[in-house]
Amino acid sequence: MSNATINTSGRSRPRRLRKNQTVRNLVAETYISPSQFIVPHFVLGTENAEIPIPSMPGISELGLNNLLSTIDADLKIGISSALLFGHPDNAAHKTADGKAAWDPNGAVQKAASNLKKEFGDNLNVMTDVCLCAYTDHGHCGLIENGNVLNDASLDPLVRTALSHAEAGADVVAPSDMMDGRVAAIRDGLDKAGHSDVILLAYAVKYASGYYGPFRDAADSAPNKGDRQSYQMDPRNLLEALREAKLDEQEGADMLMVKPALAYLDVIQAVRNSSVLPLCAYNVSGEYAAIKAASANGWLDEATVVRENLMAIRRAGADQIITYHARDAIKGKWL
Ligand code: PBG
Ligand code: ZN
Repeated sequence: MSNATINTSGRSRPRRLRKNQTVRNLVAETYISPSQFIVPHFVLGTENAEIPIPSMPGISELGLNNLLSTIDADLKIGISSALLFGHPDNAAHKTADGKAAWDPNGAVQKAASNLKKEFGDNLNVMTDVCLCAYTDHGHCGLIENGNVLNDASLDPLVRTALSHAEAGADVVAPSDMMDGRVAAIRDGLDKAGHSDVILLAYAVKYASGYYGPFRDAADSAPNKGDRQSYQMDPRNLLEALREAKLDEQEGADMLMVKPALAYLDVIQAVRNSSVLPLCAYNVSGEYAAIKAASANGWLDEATVVRENLMAIRRAGADQIITYHARDAIKGKWL
């Protein structure tokens, strides 16, 4: 008799461990704590504003006061990490060099300093470091004859990271994908006395169609060309390991894979090749797709959000950057 026949004869019955919720909780393999969530925020430099983002229901661009009250409420439900994105108040302030990115009075810089004053060490203030929302061409680095320059883009990125650190950011997160920017930013921070500022590298960032809603919100789409000469090719996995290793060698404290859901294999592979904390970014398009389908009654939002977030954790991510965090905690979806 084969083993399979013996098993189905009754000794081995996996269904015993699925009998009721209490048993299922006893043997559950994957958990998410609110402290593992990082919530992205679109920050405006004005005092009071709340501008809904049409393709991201439930998410708004927030003025500085609105940001404080939103984060205050998040802290009360256990969310203690905020990732800040900004763009110049006036599109006319976008320039070829993107210098508004390191303006000490920019929205992100003001927000970081307000938040640290208000919440101190109860909040991890994290900032996205990139130029695309501040350059008139919308690329993440400087351009010359339509090409995105690598080494020339490092200095403005370092300046931007430094301006965030000066404002009080606990974590700076470069998302530009220029080669060598982790080392350049680490050195820049250390030289300026910010050796305690944490560097979260967008180490493995794919050229993805899932960033669409974000680019509308942050007004950061390239006006010519695309990002394929610096973001990664979705066909590649070995390259992800190379990127992760380089960023680790350059001094990253934490790594990120982005997007999350179409790249669960990448999350797993990076998890198995590094011992650094690994973060996954459940991006705007992943959020928008679920919101749209559930608004139509085609998917049950609570069930699929739980399934997706657990899948990201099960694949090996330690932290999850997600727009669903607040709903998931408040709705007890986890
Ligand atoms: C900017 C940046 C992007 C995202 C985070 N930082 C967009 C892009 O690279 O085009 C995407 C986030 C999201 O879609 O939620 N470099
Ligand atoms: Zn960018």
